[in-house]
Amino acid sequence: MTITIIGHGYVGLVTACVFADFGNQVFVIGHTKEKIARLKSGDPIIYEPGLKELLQKNIQSKRISFTTDYEEAISESEIVFITVGTPPKETGEADLTAVIEVARNIGKNLKSKFTVVSCKSTVPVGTNNKIEVIINKHKSKQVDFAVASCPEFLREGTGISDTINSDRVVIGSDNKKAIEKLVELHKPINGKRVITNLASAEMIKYASNVFLANKISFANLISFYCEKTGANVDEVLTGVGIDERIGRKFLNPGLGYGGSCLPKDVKAFLDIGKKQFVDTQLLTAIENINTKAQENFLEKIVKHSPGKKVAIWGLSFKPNTDDIRFAPSVFIIKKLLEQDFQINVYDQEATENIKKIFADKINYSKDPYQAVNKVDSLIIITEWNEFKQIDLNKVKKLMSDPTIFDGRNIYDPSDLKKLGFKYYSIGRI
Ligand code: UGA
Repeated sequence: MTITIIGHGYVGLVTACVFADFGNQVFVIGHTKEKIARLKSGDPIIYEPGLKELLQKNIQSKRISFTTDYEEAISESEIVFITVGTPPKETGEADLTAVIEVARNIGKNLKSKFTVVSCKSTVPVGTNNKIEVIINKHKSKQVDFAVASCPEFLREGTGISDTINSDRVVIGSDNKKAIEKLVELHKPINGKRVITNLASAEMIKYASNVFLANKISFANLISFYCEKTGANVDEVLTGVGIDERIGRKFLNPGLGYGGSCLPKDVKAFLDIGKKQFVDTQLLTAIENINTKAQENFLEKIVKHSPGKKVAIWGLSFKPNTDDIRFAPSVFIIKKLLEQDFQINVYDQEATENIKKIFADKINYSKDPYQAVNKVDSLIIITEWNEFKQIDLNKVKKLMSDPTIFDGRNIYDPSDLKKLGFKYYSIGRI
């Protein structure tokens, strides 16, 4: 099949490379010439494990191409996916500016043969109908098209394998031909098929992300109880999660959910709920607990750090990505700077992005050991693998006062005490 993907972020580029790798002809449309030139040269711009190799392989096989021009791509494609961002406005409402702009451009460039226009971006119920109206307004008369919602469930850091080994493929449309085309395209992808109408497909995406946020906030709530009562949150949640009705996945307490998806989607769902007069108390509680998780951790640092020279390991919102959108690191660094802490940071992928926010206000280290040299405390914010079995004896020798604040519970408290560290983690005394 020939398809077009509009947008080349974590969802767009991964989806484009995976479908190209299956043998499809894929056009990727972006609006910044400089970025398109980088993509053409095989540079994915973002960091996602395995993406660079997959991109370069498919450029070489001429199955993927990049352009700023809608005309050629859209006129040749059977399916056009929209994967542009829907960031939160100040009110929490999803900002659909990019989606609407893209729909206009699709409308202007659709040719006579039947085309499916499918939105993969997370959008409020009713957005695909809006897309249809906009396309109808801008298309020429003889154009035949249908809209479909095909939400994406990949996670950053595991995007390629999540796309190929999906738990489910959700396709929502009121048009039978559109559903058939999307079913055909997704054939090599694992997972159950959920075929539904537009509104349900749009809702499945929000409900899934909000439920994941809910699980994380629940885990954090239990960690607050554990800290007050002396229970061990890891053991508690393992005991709870063995129950198959509950499950252990996404029950890891820590610094709350960050990233470009869960925070924005909870906010947008709250906004939708308020507009529809649905009770939103649960959503407000999910958000409050998420904020509290970060505040509690900050309080621990401020109260127990033996001095104000600290190192931070891990800046991205989760491991295996360079993405720092809504990352707990940004909140913690801002707050510590307000209290005159001196901060060394280390992250294997996200340093360049953090520099754009903090510039020369913090110090950037080349490796984890350089970061801890002569500091009073080490703060672990992201659980990158490289920290899990690091030489802690060496770390201890380098630090002025060996104290660790572990926001992701990557070490065993008794091991750390034996090594001579003062060790503060989440929900474990
Ligand atoms: C999330 C969903 O997991 C994907 O299914 C969805 O497709 C995606 O949003 C999206 O809407 O595009 P993502 O934001 O990439 O994926 O990352 P997650 O793995 O969900 O992690 C989100 C945040 O929750 C991270 O900050 C992570 O550290 C935190 N988290 C996750 C926890 O604090 N505890 C957990 O148990 C799991």
